[in-house]
Amino acid sequence: MSVFETSVQVFLAPVLPYLKDDSVTEVMINGPFNIFIERGGCVEKVATKFEDEASLMAAVRNISQFVGRPIDDEHPFLDARLPDGSRIHAVVAPIARNGTTVCIRKFSKVQLSLKDLINKGALTPDAARFLDVCLYLKKNIMISGGTGSGKTTILGIIASRCQPDQRIVVLEDSAELKIYNNHVVFFEGRPANEFGKGQVTLRDLVKSSLRLRPDRVIVGEVRSGEALDLISSMNTGHSGSMGTVHSNNPRECLTRLETLALMTDAEVPVQAVRAQVASAINIVIQLSRMQDGSRKLTHISEGIGMDLQGNYMTNDIYLFEQTGRDKEGKVLGTLNATGNLPTFMREIEVNHLPFPKEMFQRKAVPAAKPPQSGTGTPSGGTPTPHAA
Ligand SMILES: Nc1ncnc2c1ncn2[C@@H]1O[C@H](COP(=O)(O)OP(=O)(O)O)[C@@H](O)[C@H]1O
Ligand SMILES: [Mg+2]
Repeated sequence: MSVFETSVQVFLAPVLPYLKDDSVTEVMINGPFNIFIERGGCVEKVATKFEDEASLMAAVRNISQFVGRPIDDEHPFLDARLPDGSRIHAVVAPIARNGTTVCIRKFSKVQLSLKDLINKGALTPDAARFLDVCLYLKKNIMISGGTGSGKTTILGIIASRCQPDQRIVVLEDSAELKIYNNHVVFFEGRPANEFGKGQVTLRDLVKSSLRLRPDRVIVGEVRSGEALDLISSMNTGHSGSMGTVHSNNPRECLTRLETLALMTDAEVPVQAVRAQVASAINIVIQLSRMQDGSRKLTHISEGIGMDLQGNYMTNDIYLFEQTGRDKEGKVLGTLNATGNLPTFMREIEVNHLPFPKEMFQRKAVPAAKPPQSGTGTPSGGTPTPHAA
């Protein structure tokens, strides 16, 4: 065991059982005495406590020393990784008004497979096959959703299904993606050191990646100006690229990319960026964390350019239709074809892909069940799409 591992065990002793418990996905420390965990998508408070603020602060300082990034009054935020790969973010008092606040996103050892996601009801086998079609045709795909909605998981799964003769270049701020394919190279950016030197940004990595003969560029999480470089590369022949972005619906995903692309020093007019986003993004996969804690795909939509007013237009190919809630409050419903054909239907046909037009027909959804103990959808059999 490394010295770092031993010291984490000593300093984080109060939360160690949760760090070791694979069913726990997140540990949230709101000051020394208020600790919450997330398990199965649901958050619960736990009884464990740190002795006092000083011992919690000592734990954070200890981690900061091991990763060589300062945490003090001048640097009140710390981003680091524990030896097992878990991501930790800490904010110290007085910025954190409850006392030192820490969030640990556990590194999940179990890699969910496409089969697992289908079994969990996150998507249907038909929708999964449609995603394979998009992948085969090298569509540019963005995966959109809130924190913890399963974006990174699905990106890893999809990228692992790329044809084995393709070279995949993966760029991340914080290494997290698991991609199992024949020919993958991973790069990780880094923050500046204590002297403000040596920073490597995702923008640097995107630029460098284009000289590394990629068949596909994958940006783990697009959250800043790298959006501009990624979109330009998608528009200049590097199709089949992918990334995740934090947004609530497919159209917002495109607007978000535009906003991020404008977060650079480059003086690019808004209209130009908008036109680039509109032509770069072919498919948006929208994920959502449902009220019951499950993660589901709620949309597979196509980006189809802009209308005359300059608003992004999308074509929903699959939508989640909720039919009700069961006795335990579990969300019932399915990701159903809408009946809309993708604009690249001809491409599917001329490439003889086994995905005929009929596959896009909307299947009848069972009528909504009457609400059970206060849950459920409005009566009358009208399913409610766009579940929150
Ligand atoms: N469809 C799913 N059903 C259940 N759990 C999931 C699903 N997708 C992802 N997870 C789990 O949810 C957690 C967060 O997933 P992640 O992909 O990191 O989310 P994001 O990238 O959106 O923040 C992980 O522990 C992951 O194993
Ligand atoms: Mg993620």
